[in-house]
Amino acid sequence: ISRAFSNLQPKNESPPFGIAFDIDGVILRGHEPVGGSQLALKRLYDDRGDLKIPFLFLTNGGGVRESKRAYELGELLGVKLLPLQIVQGHSPFKELVHRFGDKFIVAVGKGEPDAVMTEYGFKEVVSMDEYESYFNDIDPLSQYKTWRSKQIFSNKFNARTDKVQAVFVVSDPVDWGRDIQILCDILRSGGLPGTKNGHQPPLFFANDDLEYQGVFPTERLGMGAFRIALESVFNKIHHDSLKYTSFGKPNPVVFKNAEAILKQIQSMYYPDTEGNQLKTIYMIGDNPAVDINGVRQAGPPWFSILTRTGVFKGKENDFNYPADLVVDTVEEAVDFILKKEQ
Ligand code: G3P
Ligand code: MG
Repeated sequence: ISRAFSNLQPKNESPPFGIAFDIDGVILRGHEPVGGSQLALKRLYDDRGDLKIPFLFLTNGGGVRESKRAYELGELLGVKLLPLQIVQGHSPFKELVHRFGDKFIVAVGKGEPDAVMTEYGFKEVVSMDEYESYFNDIDPLSQYKTWRSKQIFSNKFNARTDKVQAVFVVSDPVDWGRDIQILCDILRSGGLPGTKNGHQPPLFFANDDLEYQGVFPTERLGMGAFRIALESVFNKIHHDSLKYTSFGKPNPVVFKNAEAILKQIQSMYYPDTEGNQLKTIYMIGDNPAVDINGVRQAGPPWFSILTRTGVFKGKENDFNYPADLVVDTVEEAVDFILKKEQ
């Protein structure tokens, strides 16, 4: 339990607003804070380090458990964060435990996709890295992949005989070629590579971001680009087209869920607040097609603020998905919010 929590006691009424921060291109570029994010976030805490303003991070990124991300991000930004304040692209996957919690599933992507799914309650989850190791020669190029030093083989699963019941792309895939190959094997065979033609198991993506802002000056290809690559290949080699579900922003459900979590945070820190109301929720994002588009679909109480530290680099507002406000940095955005709400 964080210090902020242990000090919970009736305070004044909560401020009637909350903030959702995008991470990549707003708070961080790669692992570096950007746009004065550290100073901006400090302004949301009181002198004792307790939270004053309800806020959370609403990112399409992931590959790390929310508990770990809260700790790492908190260290990087110099503030105390709760796992509840981290909403990642894959966070809604936990709602699927009732369908797949006891089924054999494959988790794909950078980081620790299997640990993420295990924390959500999935019991029979194997990472793509491990899954590959059960099938000799499934990746004909593996001998050229010098970065892969050792194969993980836990022998926990009967992967050579049990059919995969669902695939979850948790985070950006690292080895697109291998993953497209093995996903095509799983999906067109009905769940067992090396066999032919079966019913496609369900496929879920944590987001559908075509591009995002990393450290490199121009945008990088994201999970949406991987989805297009997989879908293009799959549809060429299979008679039925690929079926899949994508989560993450701009889906309005994500914003409804974030609103519910912000209200939960509000009532934890301000148990006396009557009616548990947030009249305005500010989303600070960098990607018009994702962050601003999502807010526009979600409608009130959401208010969109677009920064110039990430995907959007224009002088005026975005043409296709104009934001309610455009600023240079997250620091400027927080300054605007705090002045407006004074
Ligand atoms: O992979 C990360 C990217 O898709 C977007 O992250 O924080 O900008 O929603 P974010
Ligand atoms: Mg972003």
